[in-house]
Amino acid sequence: MPLPKAELHLHIEGTLEPELAFALAARNGIALPYADAEELRHKYRFSDLQSFLDLYYELMAVLRTEDDFADLAEAYLTRAAAQGVRHAEVFFDPQAHLARGVEMATVVDGLARALEGAPERHGVSTRLIMCFLRDESAESAAATLDAARPHLDHITGVGLDSAEVGHPPSKFREVYEKAANLGLRRVAHAGEEGPPAYITEALDVLGVERVDHGLRSVEDPDLVARLVRDRVPLTLCPLSNVRLRTVDVLADHPLRAMLEAGLMATVNSDDPAYFGGYADDNFHAVREALGLTDDQLRELARNSFLAAFLDDDEDLRKA
Ligand code: HPA
Ligand code: ZN
Repeated sequence: MPLPKAELHLHIEGTLEPELAFALAARNGIALPYADAEELRHKYRFSDLQSFLDLYYELMAVLRTEDDFADLAEAYLTRAAAQGVRHAEVFFDPQAHLARGVEMATVVDGLARALEGAPERHGVSTRLIMCFLRDESAESAAATLDAARPHLDHITGVGLDSAEVGHPPSKFREVYEKAANLGLRRVAHAGEEGPPAYITEALDVLGVERVDHGLRSVEDPDLVARLVRDRVPLTLCPLSNVRLRTVDVLADHPLRAMLEAGLMATVNSDDPAYFGGYADDNFHAVREALGLTDDQLRELARNSFLAAFLDDDEDLRKA
């Protein structure tokens, strides 16, 4: 039995398995430039974040209808539940869909249909977090937040993702302020490829409650001390870091040292269809590669529930 856990760093578009991509392409009359799912899977070799993002955005072309988004989320929930996920906070990238002429309502209603049935069908509670693409303008992010206004009953928070270096958190100060005023929770990717200073900015300028990745915090002892003191959760994604060449091999991953330093680390799958594993696959991989103890694995699972945007009456740790 996999450990019960919450998954807090998961891009729903990154759960698009090659087989589902081909099925949706056929349903929508879209030709993919690959012979079959097997050939596509062979493209999943990345040199850095951008080389992954290029394929990630290309394959989104198959997502067109509300049913497509519902089927995508349903497929994720089925796999996540089998890996012990009891609660999932799911990112989506509206700008990548709006730019293709897919409306916000199509995306949100499709995702929400699958997520809202998840407690009954899969024993998984959910939240939806809308991410801004940091390599797009601050104006585009603000317009996206406006487009989401009619759908905020389905959206718990905002995040920040896509190409990090050269796009510091401070670029999005105003839209995060607006989001906070609308009662939205705030997270942001920082310190995946970008420097530790981006983590500090995400905390100080954007007011984030969790840092997505936060991997490069280990380069700055003062920042580590602050993250430990303030119990700031970090949503680490070990298999993602290896696939995107942020760490050479899993045995070099700083997760164990981070736990031992008292950081509030969590383990997540990021884009599991692309990076070779879902939530428990990540737990299993770090246990093997880093020799984590059962206590450390339980600490990771406990942290995931403590860091989740759950209401007080939703204590899933007892489930
Ligand atoms: N990093 C940044 N942006 C992303 C990622 C990621 O791992 N996955 C999807 N968008
Ligand atoms: Zn991510």
